[in-house]
Amino acid sequence: MSSNNVPDYSNSRIRSAVQPNASTPSLREPVSIAVVGSGYVGLVAAVCFAEMGHDVICVDNDESKVKALQGGDTLIHETYLPELLNRHGNRRVRFMTDLAEATRECKAIFIAVGTPQSETGDADLSYVEAVASEIARSLTTYKVIVEKSTVPVYTNEWIRRVIERNGVARELFDVVSNPEFLREGTAVADFLHPDRIVVGSDTPRAAAVLAEIYAPLTSGAYYESPNAISGVCSVETPPPLLNTSTKSSEIIKHASNAFLALKISFINAVANLCEATDANVEQVARGMGLDRRIGTRFLRPGIGYGGSCFPKDVAAFRSVAEQLGTDFSLLTEVEKINATQKKRFLGKVRSALWTLRGKKLAVLGLAFKGETDDIRESPAIELVQMLLGEGCTIRAYDPAAISRTQQILPASAGLAYAEDSYAAAADADALLILTDWKEFSELDLHRLNKTLRYPIIIDGRNLYDPHVMQQHGFTYLSVGRPAAYPVRDAVTNAAVTVGS
Ligand code: UGA
Repeated sequence: MSSNNVPDYSNSRIRSAVQPNASTPSLREPVSIAVVGSGYVGLVAAVCFAEMGHDVICVDNDESKVKALQGGDTLIHETYLPELLNRHGNRRVRFMTDLAEATRECKAIFIAVGTPQSETGDADLSYVEAVASEIARSLTTYKVIVEKSTVPVYTNEWIRRVIERNGVARELFDVVSNPEFLREGTAVADFLHPDRIVVGSDTPRAAAVLAEIYAPLTSGAYYESPNAISGVCSVETPPPLLNTSTKSSEIIKHASNAFLALKISFINAVANLCEATDANVEQVARGMGLDRRIGTRFLRPGIGYGGSCFPKDVAAFRSVAEQLGTDFSLLTEVEKINATQKKRFLGKVRSALWTLRGKKLAVLGLAFKGETDDIRESPAIELVQMLLGEGCTIRAYDPAAISRTQQILPASAGLAYAEDSYAAAADADALLILTDWKEFSELDLHRLNKTLRYPIIIDGRNLYDPHVMQQHGFTYLSVGRPAAYPVRDAVTNAAVTVGS
């Protein structure tokens, strides 16, 4: 181990762990890697490649971002990122704006720029195209260009054509698809401990470079390092690397996200059925999930999926299918259920409070999910906007997402931001839980009951056991589970909810 805690793969013990497996190349030399884009995927990939022992340049055309990263600011709220940036920043991972220089210096160039949703639902690939053209202008020796951004099938071919149109000879480059499956909040651990690494390549020489890059993980060598970030993989159980064609790899990414979104919409539809029958969706999800073919994960009902990936990727995948003339209207239903889920939650708030105009509400959670400050496509923000539109007054709290929310929803007569959950709850007519932050599942229920004007909680994330809430004197409505009322009110309130 070198003095600055950087894993050193020249270490003979690690080399010997790499060598016995003939199909896994040993990491003789670090690979020089450029990552274009310093968003969630780009920054995490750059820092993790450095952690794996490679020499990395992370390029972004936003000078202020580059300066911040050079100064050690991670820009996003992500577990382990500050530690890894501190470990490798300005040493194994450098930040710059000059893509031409990075292209000249590096063997592999990962494109990890945004692919926002266009008005038609398609992915807008203009940033990918601009980067491909710029790379082409500096390409003089063999390079592997890797799509890391989430892109529709055929993007690989387009990148190749753009580079060729810029006069680059075919033998000077290959284009590879290597999608990323990390989740925000656990991005670093997901990157270093993946379920699988997918490499879509149509040439053996490009596949070999990608195999070399991922060798520290696939050989298990990384997990032997005493400073390795811990997670599910180990030297005995390293992640598999799946080689596919470029088109299959592109489809794997969209299909995986669309399938996970489908799972969520499915359980939300089941939750609605449970509400209509007084069944309990948690019991149903458990009973389904114990079947190993179904699995228990991503069967948590709620207020619908959000974030920068699922809404955009489901729409893009649907749009690709339409353009290719294949019927994938199943995805339209997935989107429809997701949109309805927010409206149903609003209806639940109304059923608990009767009228909404002038009601004072405490809102816990603004981020699209817990443990992140990201509010893109957040169902919580959408609900806050709907409730403000209904004339409610809101006091909101989120452990990390308030400053981002303030940029699009500044404090106003109807909306204030609180310093913690109890300040948000003070004298409110009801409390709404909209994001599954761990700290929202550990509230002091006695204190909360005394703080609220009326002890009413409408939980869009099912963070509490309805029986426990009943014992603490709350009226508690959640998703897909029977409503709970303080014992003395149980009979009358049940009658009111049925009638509403
Ligand atoms: C998602 C995928 O999980 C990653 O595999 C993928 O790499 C990433 O998109 C991407 O394409 O970049 P992420 O958007 O970070 O990751 O968030 P998830 O943890 O998947 O959650 C997405 C949304 O679904 C959130 O709003 C979450 O609250 C919701 N969700 C998730 C549920 O409502 N129920 C569940 O059971 C799980």
